[in-house]
Amino acid sequence: MAGWAEGVLVNESDTAIIDARYVNYSLDIAGKPLHILKNVSLRVEPAEVVAIVGPSGSGKTSLLMLLAGLEKATSGKVMVNTSELGGLDEDELARFRRKTLGIVFQSFHLIPSLTALDNVGLALEIARPDLSMARVREEAAAALEAVGLGKRLDHRPSALSGGEQQRVGLARASVANPPLLLADEPTGNLDQETGVHIAGLMFDLARQHRTAVVLITHDPALAARADRVYTMMQGELSETTLPAAPETH
Ligand SMILES: Nc1ncnc2c1ncn2[C@@H]1O[C@H](COP(=O)(O)OP(=O)(O)O)[C@@H](O)[C@H]1O
Ligand SMILES: [Mg+2]
Repeated sequence: MAGWAEGVLVNESDTAIIDARYVNYSLDIAGKPLHILKNVSLRVEPAEVVAIVGPSGSGKTSLLMLLAGLEKATSGKVMVNTSELGGLDEDELARFRRKTLGIVFQSFHLIPSLTALDNVGLALEIARPDLSMARVREEAAAALEAVGLGKRLDHRPSALSGGEQQRVGLARASVANPPLLLADEPTGNLDQETGVHIAGLMFDLARQHRTAVVLITHDPALAARADRVYTMMQGELSETTLPAAPETH
């Protein structure tokens, strides 16, 4: 029976884009352990959109850092796109990130001295060193057009509104067509209306390209658009069933 169970687990791991199991993450703060993530398990299938909600300080960003291979779990297993991140060295992690991930941050993190086109182009150049410069520019322009910024290619971030900057952030995260997008409160710095618009764009891009998404958000309306919702509470992650939408007659 153990063999049967093991077989099933192995098969499941083969298909998941994220398979994190019993992950603990602790930091040593002034000689005292701070237990940030407690036995967190999370499984995400290709093309699935998963939202994570929960109060500030509960560990959401920490989990994203582990999934991006930017921090290492203290114990447990973090499998992303069939790589067990705990077993990779820095070079392998960098390669993993280039191949697998797009990341969208709350505060955009664009390079101020570069135009929108070059911010997106640079990300593609890093992800796909095999492409010619002409091809990089072409695809970066297409990614910016896809987020409605075809007329802003030569603008630097300071000449763009917050919503426009986050569109550049989305174009940058999706230009190399990664199988997984990690978004940490991508609408947190935008007004409600712009946020809804940007989120819509992100969901559309993900569905078009069958990109799996892990979206951290404070906005219940945004979370409700995900396939599944998790809640983080003091370092513990649990799947949440949202109340069904009221029936309309
Ligand atoms: N590098 C760090 N040094 C000290 N404390 C940290 C560090 N990273 C995270 N923490 C703490 O871990 C907890 C979870 O943080 P975080 O993952 O950023 O939560 P969230 O994204 O849900 O707001 C918080 O109490 C935070 O202060
Ligand atoms: Mg956070």
